[in-house]
Amino acid sequence: MELKEDFLWGGSLAANQIEGNWNIDGKGPAIMDYVTSGSYQKEREVTDEIEEGKIYPSHTGIDFYHQYKEDIKLLAELGLKALRISIDWSRIFPLGDEEQPNQKGLDYYHDIIDTLHMYHIEPIVTLYHYEMPMNIVKKYDSWMNRKTIDLYLHFCETVMKSLKGKVKYWVTFNEMNHIDPQTENSDLFTYMITGIKYSRMENPSQMIATMSYHMVLASVKAVALAHYIDATNQVGCVFGLTPVYPRNCNPINVINAFQEMEKDYYQIDAMTQGKFPSYKLAEYQEAGIALKITEADQEAFHMGKLDFIGINYYMSSVARYTGDDDQEETIFGNVQNPYLQTSEWGWAIDGIGLRYILNYTYHKYGLPILITENGLGAVDTIGENGSIQDDYRITYLQEHISEMKKAILEDHVECFGYLTWAPIDLVSLTTGEMKKRYGFIYVNKQDDGSGDFSRHQKKSFEWFQEIIRENAKQL
Ligand code: BG6
Repeated sequence: MELKEDFLWGGSLAANQIEGNWNIDGKGPAIMDYVTSGSYQKEREVTDEIEEGKIYPSHTGIDFYHQYKEDIKLLAELGLKALRISIDWSRIFPLGDEEQPNQKGLDYYHDIIDTLHMYHIEPIVTLYHYEMPMNIVKKYDSWMNRKTIDLYLHFCETVMKSLKGKVKYWVTFNEMNHIDPQTENSDLFTYMITGIKYSRMENPSQMIATMSYHMVLASVKAVALAHYIDATNQVGCVFGLTPVYPRNCNPINVINAFQEMEKDYYQIDAMTQGKFPSYKLAEYQEAGIALKITEADQEAFHMGKLDFIGINYYMSSVARYTGDDDQEETIFGNVQNPYLQTSEWGWAIDGIGLRYILNYTYHKYGLPILITENGLGAVDTIGENGSIQDDYRITYLQEHISEMKKAILEDHVECFGYLTWAPIDLVSLTTGEMKKRYGFIYVNKQDDGSGDFSRHQKKSFEWFQEIIRENAKQL
């Protein structure tokens, strides 16, 4: 048995990490435009204003805004059958609350989609990959306000109607499940998803619950809207999922790990089961958290069930445990797995974890799954002859693709595509660095500001080309 002939081999990108040109052709400032570059050791800083002397990586990206035609040509040469991009909300509605869209923004995305079609690459469009206009945060308090749901839906409707017939696969949100801070004192994740720093929240548990609820509601409404606009639209939502393993078979550790993993699923439950889960409401009630749920909301949950689930998978983790003392912490506040190697950024490399999470998620919902992101962030060096020998990336992808095949062919998980993060080097989301590279295509942009933005194929380019050509039969 082999993968289906129409299996979607592809790549994923996000506007704020590639486009650059943050303030031209009518684009308004968006939340990621205020985040400086950082590193593994130093968290990215979020500033209230653009401060001179600081580096804001989204302002330059990899200049995809001007180079997309050449980049897509290269991706076509790579053999991609699908490309997931995000549409930057602040290019379409610079302030977020205008009636009429910025035509230049729409034209730009039309041209990208047309170019993809020219090369027979299926576009997959994410509507929220952290590109919220800053004005919505300042004027309406971001997702705290129900008005933001309407603004988001107006944006969705504008884009979906405009691209009707050209785009079939839509993603409502990227990784809203990471709205909780990853570690204590970390502002970054909450900010990236909502534009509001965790440290500025007066009552963080209440605020996070409210914003998460409003985003879930926005997502189900966007699903119904997409189906209404075009019944052939296929709509998913993307989650960053991580298997959480117990350290040992002590039942208390097993249940703790299970519960920690489950925290990432209540939003998926809400988007697939036709109602906001009652166990979550009970949990909120116990914690003194109140949500306003209207009858119209309840109807919306019924009407907007997902067609597919998008999974971003990079690593597995081990839950903190009771009993021992030597718990070496990872950057995301969990414990290192002694059986696994980690990337240079401390992310545990675990191909079997992908098979696990595919099975786990599929058994829960029975919905088709699209692997929307998977890849290895690593430092690449250019050899004397100009070649980039990224064998570590090939090894990582090989292991993951092979485990994905087992999930599909042996475990019968319905997974219809595999998109790498990312087919071309881009700005790292968590650190803002360029040196954390993911691509098959190297971009000559360095963290010190040097580089001519030229593109170069790495060794993995030819390797992945062959994987696609053979439909991964060789793995
Ligand atoms: C995913 C995000 O969570 O992780 C991407 O959807 C991000 O936007 C990717 O780039 C990898 O993270 P990083 O920090 O290595 O870029």
